[in-house]
Amino acid sequence: MLNGKNGSHELPTPPAAGALPTNRYAHVVGWGMSVPSRVMTNDDLARIVDTSDEWITSRTGIRERHIAGPKDSTSTLATQAGRAALELADIDPNDVDLVIVATCTPDHLFPATACLVQDALGCGRAGAFDVSAACSGFIYGLTLGTQMIRTGAMRTVLVIGAETLSRFINWKDRATCVLFGDGAGAFVLQARETPGGLLTSVLGADGSGGDSLIVPAGGCKLPASFETIRDNQHTLQMDGKAVYRFATRVMTESVREVTAKAGVPLDQVQLIVPHQANRRIIESSARTLGLSEERFVVNLDRFGNTSAASIPIAVCEAVRDGRLRPDDNVVLVAFGAGLTWGSALLQWDATPPAEPTGLARFRRQLSYSFAGLRSTARRGWRRVEGLLFGSQSPEGGQQPPKRGKTDEPHKPKEPVA
Ligand code: UT7
Repeated sequence: MLNGKNGSHELPTPPAAGALPTNRYAHVVGWGMSVPSRVMTNDDLARIVDTSDEWITSRTGIRERHIAGPKDSTSTLATQAGRAALELADIDPNDVDLVIVATCTPDHLFPATACLVQDALGCGRAGAFDVSAACSGFIYGLTLGTQMIRTGAMRTVLVIGAETLSRFINWKDRATCVLFGDGAGAFVLQARETPGGLLTSVLGADGSGGDSLIVPAGGCKLPASFETIRDNQHTLQMDGKAVYRFATRVMTESVREVTAKAGVPLDQVQLIVPHQANRRIIESSARTLGLSEERFVVNLDRFGNTSAASIPIAVCEAVRDGRLRPDDNVVLVAFGAGLTWGSALLQWDATPPAEPTGLARFRRQLSYSFAGLRSTARRGWRRVEGLLFGSQSPEGGQQPPKRGKTDEPHKPKEPVA
């Protein structure tokens, strides 16, 4: 509103802290996952580094992991998981308002992987961005998506955790290469008036531990060079023991904090879905929390650590196996590089819809083909625009001539003091 006296803008009074609209809840209405078809067992690894199935299984619980093939990338895995989630929810990609991809292994530094997924899925009306919080990224993404819905800004948000860590692994480093795997998992969040869905979450960070788990090069601080490649600085480096100590501490603290914040006692939480990094970390948290291990979902034996994808993949399997049922309270809890951590308390109220009819399947196939066509047409049009208006600025004016070899060398401006 414009204030007549001094021309300043009066902002509406902000709601009191915590006073979000009470009649909008972010419910999980669809979920899906995707992993590459290639499976690498511990014995396969023992053929390339000095390790053994016995060591990996006893120290981590991991037996095998899925590894991306030449045609897979974070965006392709994310697209497959996102599509599965939208199909289950029976939601048209054009009804999605926002695509969030949590990843620390994006296809490119930019554009965001979420934009590639938005285009591939045909979410024509959606905004899209990535969240970088490593293994805690899915919880961060869920929190953002939920707030978008609870504030009334958006109705349908697709949150995906997706990783292709195999491309950032030093396959000669036995201390790290045995731990990770590739994959993606997705949730569709949608606004509902009935209470439930994601009730609350807790996020945390401690950047002082950033170098405990890091890919040192490839950013602006250490761009790619002969030396960075020679010294393996584009691959993951980890102080395993430091991360282990941090993980066991924050997992339990974060579970306690989120349940207290939601006002849901731990004994009313049916299931805990922890980040799948190491079975020993999960067992230790269960002991400290005084909970039976039965209440924890563990599937790292078949997937390894898939970072931001590990929680949504574990949730998909828990629903499939009947371990997560309507009206269950479930805590999702993660930790990772940053260092970051996060937990969310979710009231799982989603009943999987009936199998889609043949007609519905056909309609959907058509919409995916349309998404592909739309993307190709837009790329084509951009090329035509370039040919037609190549030398003109968007406002119609002529662009300055390109500098040729005979031009004066460009003199940078003096920095302003
Ligand atoms: O999303 C977050 C990702 N990161 C994590 O969650 C990592 C958390 N940390 C861990 O899970 C554990 O610290 C590890 C699994 C990484 C390591 O387990 P550990 O029990 O802490 O082993 P360690 O690093 O103390 O190594 C023990 C021994 C060493 O040999 P020496 O010095 O005792 O002779 C290592 O060289 O095991 C050796 N070792 C291996 N041996 C066979 C390390 N990796 C391997 C291997 N195969 N893959």
